[in-house]
Amino acid sequence: MILVTGATGNIGRELTRELDAKGAKLRLLVRDPARAARLPERAERAVGDLGEPATLAPAFAGVDKLFLLTQGIGTDYTAAAIAAAQAAGVQHVVHLSSFHVTFDPIPAMGRWHHEREQIIRASGIPVTFLRPGGFMTNALDWLPTIREGNYVLDPVGPGRYAPIDPADIAAVAALALTEAGHQDKEYVLTGDEMFTVAEQVRIISETIGRNIEVRETATAAEAVRFRFPNGAPQALADAITEGFTLMRADTVGFRTDTVGRLLGRRPRTFADWCARNADAFRRPENA
Ligand SMILES: NC(=O)c1ccc[n+]([C@@H]2O[C@H](COP(=O)([O-])OP(=O)(O)OC[C@H]3O[C@@H](n4cnc5c(N)ncnc54)[C@H](OP(=O)(O)O)[C@@H]3O)[C@@H](O)[C@H]2O)c1
Repeated sequence: MILVTGATGNIGRELTRELDAKGAKLRLLVRDPARAARLPERAERAVGDLGEPATLAPAFAGVDKLFLLTQGIGTDYTAAAIAAAQAAGVQHVVHLSSFHVTFDPIPAMGRWHHEREQIIRASGIPVTFLRPGGFMTNALDWLPTIREGNYVLDPVGPGRYAPIDPADIAAVAALALTEAGHQDKEYVLTGDEMFTVAEQVRIISETIGRNIEVRETATAAEAVRFRFPNGAPQALADAITEGFTLMRADTVGFRTDTVGRLLGRRPRTFADWCARNADAFRRPENA
């Protein structure tokens, strides 16, 4: 039995479909089953919350493999999940981390992921670490300013990165969960096309047939304020500001060939992701 956390999220939605298609026995840890209504019917639902450790034992009963994804900052969710996994005798964890753990020095965003990796290593359960770079779905963070005035705030200017489609991360996770040979491996995952924010926005504009303006922000902090109009925990705001600053400095764009090597095909393109998500940008008021 495979237990999937984060099943209603960007990666988890795709992963449950991949595992369903492979015929795997699977269970989804969900806080609200209504949010999982469109996920494969065949998958069991277990109601639980990583923030409430007492809810986890029933969800982990009989589980031998775990896809672990924790949102936000800190390590409490990871510690709770790994304690439940140890108690249940889980044999393999596929853990969603971040490519930031490979940086020297590790930026704040990567430090939480690094600490989570250490908790899992210390448990002794065999693990596969998935360490992706920036997701294509981060473009959905631009919807509020597109809705407000048809523009995108660009905090990274000449900085380039190789965004990855969460569907590709899910495909790698599904492989690691269902085939032998992926334990004790670390996979750094990126797309294989390099973009500035302005180049990404141009592709969205071409896809929807409407020009979206790009406005460079004076400071990365300004972009963070737009992303969290109702405020964000200071530690998270600082970490994202630091992330934007690192992206601005990288004008080449960091990328790996890991997705292609593991899946035997090229990573999905940003144009493909835009085509699948065009409605959100065409009608941002409904997104
Ligand atoms: N975005 C990037 O560029 C990037 C890059 C590298 C790494 N990452 C990492 O990727 C992860 C996010 O992946 P994603 O985009 O697929 O996630 P996402 O779309 O933000 O979804 C988060 C998932 O976590 C679930 N969740 C939240 N709090 C929970 C709790 N207390 N108990 C149980 N489940 C809970 C949510 O369920 P509900 O339906 O109940 O809300 C949802 O399924 C984070 O660890 C992030 O640091 C992101």
